[in-house]
Amino acid sequence: MAGPVTTERRGKIAVIVVDNPPVNALSQAVRQGLDEAVAAAQAEDGVQALVVAGAGRTFIAGADIREFGKPPQPPALPEVINRIEAGAKPVIVALHGTALGGGLEVALGCHYRVALPGARVGLPEVSLGLIPGAGGTQRTPRLIGAAQAVELITSGRHVGAEEALALGLVDEIAEEDDPVAAGVAFAETVLAEGRPVRRSGEAEDKIAADRGNATLFADARKALETKARGLFSPFKCVDAVEAAVTLPFAEGLKRERALFLECMDSPQRAGLIHAFFAEREVRKIPEAKAEPREIAAVGVIGGGTMGAGIAVALMTAGLPVVLVERDAESLARGRANVEGILDGGVKRGKMTAEARDALLASKLTGALDYEALAEVDLAIEAVFEDMAVKKQVFTQLDAALKPDAILASNTSYLDVDEIAAVTARPQDVIGLHFFSPAHVMRLLEVVAAAKTAPEVVAGGFALAKRLGKVAVRAGVCDGFIGNRILSVYRRQADIMVEDGASPYAIDAALLDFGFAMGPYAVADLAGLDIGWANRKRLAPTRDPKERYVEIADRICERGWFGQKTGRGFYLYPEGARRGEPDPEVEAIIAEARAKKGIAPRDFTAEEIVRRYLAAMINEGARVVAEGIALRPLDVDVTLLYGYGFPRWRGGPMKYADLRGLDRVLADVRAYQAEDPASWQPARLLVDLVEGGESFDSLNRV
Ligand code: 3HC
Ligand code: NAI
Repeated sequence: MAGPVTTERRGKIAVIVVDNPPVNALSQAVRQGLDEAVAAAQAEDGVQALVVAGAGRTFIAGADIREFGKPPQPPALPEVINRIEAGAKPVIVALHGTALGGGLEVALGCHYRVALPGARVGLPEVSLGLIPGAGGTQRTPRLIGAAQAVELITSGRHVGAEEALALGLVDEIAEEDDPVAAGVAFAETVLAEGRPVRRSGEAEDKIAADRGNATLFADARKALETKARGLFSPFKCVDAVEAAVTLPFAEGLKRERALFLECMDSPQRAGLIHAFFAEREVRKIPEAKAEPREIAAVGVIGGGTMGAGIAVALMTAGLPVVLVERDAESLARGRANVEGILDGGVKRGKMTAEARDALLASKLTGALDYEALAEVDLAIEAVFEDMAVKKQVFTQLDAALKPDAILASNTSYLDVDEIAAVTARPQDVIGLHFFSPAHVMRLLEVVAAAKTAPEVVAGGFALAKRLGKVAVRAGVCDGFIGNRILSVYRRQADIMVEDGASPYAIDAALLDFGFAMGPYAVADLAGLDIGWANRKRLAPTRDPKERYVEIADRICERGWFGQKTGRGFYLYPEGARRGEPDPEVEAIIAEARAKKGIAPRDFTAEEIVRRYLAAMINEGARVVAEGIALRPLDVDVTLLYGYGFPRWRGGPMKYADLRGLDRVLADVRAYQAEDPASWQPARLLVDLVEGGESFDSLNRV
């Protein structure tokens, strides 16, 4: 059987093609094949130049990430690349699709680089908790200078062909649209002009000026302290580029290797790579094979916070939107909300004023009548979180929409089965739970109700893809995956506040753990009224034995709903975005403790984090066991994309695996001993610990 690397002669040129679908990752077989093919072509009489190219949709997208964490198999990539570079006959590489990570490093080891017009290149290792480990940190500065190399490598961003040419990462943009043809044409020019073998590792001119420029690296590290808070590998990237400037090439490569291995061993690498695969695995759902319902035009009901954001997300993805409101005044406000979001984009330079006007003119229509929805393929309801209002809206949607249209609710907590039951077509009803702000947040919970048809679920996933969002499949329960888990860990945070921790200490501890924001700052941003309404809804069915913390209610009763009212848990003087601790809130808390006769005790940051995460993980286990989430990784993706969980920790379930499920269970049992009404170990957690298994074992089914 032919291996993944083949060679074909075109006269004086040997064409070496890497064919390892889907993305030509540098597996052991590819490394070995490439090594042997290059050596053979260099040795073969009659061959005067070599071309390396990728088959299929892309050049090489990097090292084979699935091999990470396993024992390394020779040949090692850096050595393969060093041998390519050392060759006596010129090696020309042709880039198409995405040349990323180890793929770009292979290209940098070749002597000439030609890119197809649509090609993108980059060194995204940092997003996997790594540094480029096959010469990328040493050859890149030699081609484009240290400052540009630091920016490229610490951001991990992809660069288009034009920019790559301007930077000096590639030599030419091809006119051909076939990589082999482009490589061969370039090789013929090299031979015709007698151009010499030109090795990146020997280039000195771009880094000569950076020698002794210590401020360049000091500044880069300083900038990372805020940009890459809590992360390990970005700083190692800077160390490696600095080594390229200060050490001879061979020494620099050794330093890069050592730094790469340090990153490889870090738990951050494990967390980030889990996140990378989880984000892809999450698309594997029972409905994956169903033909998604076509969605070309959308209706949005309600133009408030969520409806407006959803409309903007749809419009910017090219979908025409009919916005339906209850009266002319609300419609005008809804339209103003949409315009306000787009204006923000113009102010931040993300969009021109002309583009905003064109989008509003071509993609947004307002209506007060459901007849305007006759032609839409999907209607997304984002009206008040009130079952009676939702039922009324769905009855009208059922009457107005064409057959096979999808009827979706953006409800945060309510029962989608109950909503579906008011229609004559429950198979077409689904939950599409966007997160606020809906035009920014990447998570979309696709809630499959009991009767939802597979093509409708598949349609939700296809929509998410079109909007550039990450879809997670959820089942029906109060709060689905994310908000259900949130209610439980938020409750534990409130209990800790009542027992003695200040909300500010809790936020600080979780920020330190790596969350984008603490729960109380988030609550202030989202608006405390939403949770208050939900607590009132649940009050009649609440278990009287359950410990109920009233502090947030006392705050809401004063009309303090968070940032939008200038105060909530924090004070926001003169519209400040960052809140300040509020002594009056501390007094409310003290009063609440006194009322229940609680003597406040101290909580260390570590205790806060442990308790908060134990609650999150324990409820995550229940959500998986009940089939609300398909796998633990679905919980991880939900928390990563919707709730600011630090990506480098992989998500709560991955974090639990890394910490050890037995330790998490021991925590839950200890808290249960203190407060049996609030804590009960999830059966699944107990079973996994008893069976010596991890959450990850359930991801691989
Ligand atoms: N190794 C192994 N599998 C990979 C992979 C890689 N480097 N890159 C992608 N895949 C797999 C995906 O898991 C997916 O598998 P699945 O179909 O079973 O789910 C399949 O390839 C297709 O990937 P996508 O769904 O992501 O396809 P897209 O077309 O949306 O994106 C891509 C393609 C831009 C190449 C994207 O996959 C990507 O960004 N890949 C990772 C690139 C990367 O980070 N490279 C650096 C690796 S680290 C390195 O090189 C170390 C070196 O310095 C030593
Ligand atoms: P909002 O109060 O800002 O907006 C609701 C809008 O619906 C108002 O503009 C109102 O005029 C309109 N409306 C009410 N009844 C209507 C009817 N019968 N027909 C047409 N329009 C009607 O509320 P928000 O925050 O946008 O929430 C909407 C929904 O989204 C709720 O179900 C909420 O639970 C959910 N949600 C809210 C999130 C948030 O952070 N605000 C996050 C995710 C979901």
